[in-house]
Amino acid sequence: MALNDEVRSYWEREACGTEPVVVGKLEKFSKEWFEQVESHRYQFEPFIHSVAQFTRHHGKKMLEVGVGAGIDHLQWARAGLNCHGVDLTDEAIETTRRGLEVHGLSSQLQRVDAETLPFEDNSFDLVYSWGVIHHSENPQKIISEIHRVLRTGGTFIGMMYGRYSLQSIKMWVSYALLKGKPWKSFADVIWNHVESIGTKAYTVPELQELFSSFNSFEGKPITIPYELKRFPNFVRRLIPSSWGFFIALNARK
Ligand SMILES: C[S@@+](CC[C@H](N)C(=O)[O-])C[C@H]1O[C@@H](n2cnc3c(N)ncnc32)[C@H](O)[C@@H]1O
Repeated sequence: MALNDEVRSYWEREACGTEPVVVGKLEKFSKEWFEQVESHRYQFEPFIHSVAQFTRHHGKKMLEVGVGAGIDHLQWARAGLNCHGVDLTDEAIETTRRGLEVHGLSSQLQRVDAETLPFEDNSFDLVYSWGVIHHSENPQKIISEIHRVLRTGGTFIGMMYGRYSLQSIKMWVSYALLKGKPWKSFADVIWNHVESIGTKAYTVPELQELFSSFNSFEGKPITIPYELKRFPNFVRRLIPSSWGFFIALNARK
């Protein structure tokens, strides 16, 4: 099975962030269900607002690559952008469409593999992709496609996983050290145990290289509440953000 077929079948089971532990017994696609998914998302990833700066981009033509449950897509639509979105799964496209509908909003959504984007060159002012590109078989292909569809001067905003992070250490302890296989690399553990099979994680210089066709690039690691879990507050304050599993990205074509 090709990797992206496996990635697709993993994410078809449920859109990211809509697991039973989040939504409980709420009726799927009801207003309360979407409100719960949204409040859970921003409780655990509050920094998305400062990275994305949704309202700053009012009026722009935007493409989101990998909409998932569509919660960030809803923020883009609320902020008055001309929204387009793609995802590898029908589940994500349907969830995003229903969520927008509940709020009287809409977007042009398509199920496609973002390694080949069905848009003309230079068609977007902004491309956004949060936690998606590292799942695909060929991340460089998606980044080249994002560069192609962005207009000159257009912006890419996103997030990809960082390899040398606190979260990677915690996972390495569970899946390598405690399993008696300390020779396993962080990359191996992340590939096999973070969400769909084949997940990749990078250093900032590696990301810089992947985005080298862009005129400017910035990658800033962020520590996430999940990786700080179980550390007392005084220890949390000592952990540098450079140990973060999420690398916030901003690149200009
Ligand atoms: C971790 S979820 C993130 C979704 C959303 N951006 C969020 O932050 O919740 C990863 C998403 O990427 C999508 N995805 C993975 N590979 C893709 C590809 N090659 N093309 C388009 N979407 C892809 C998956 O279907 C899934 O919805």
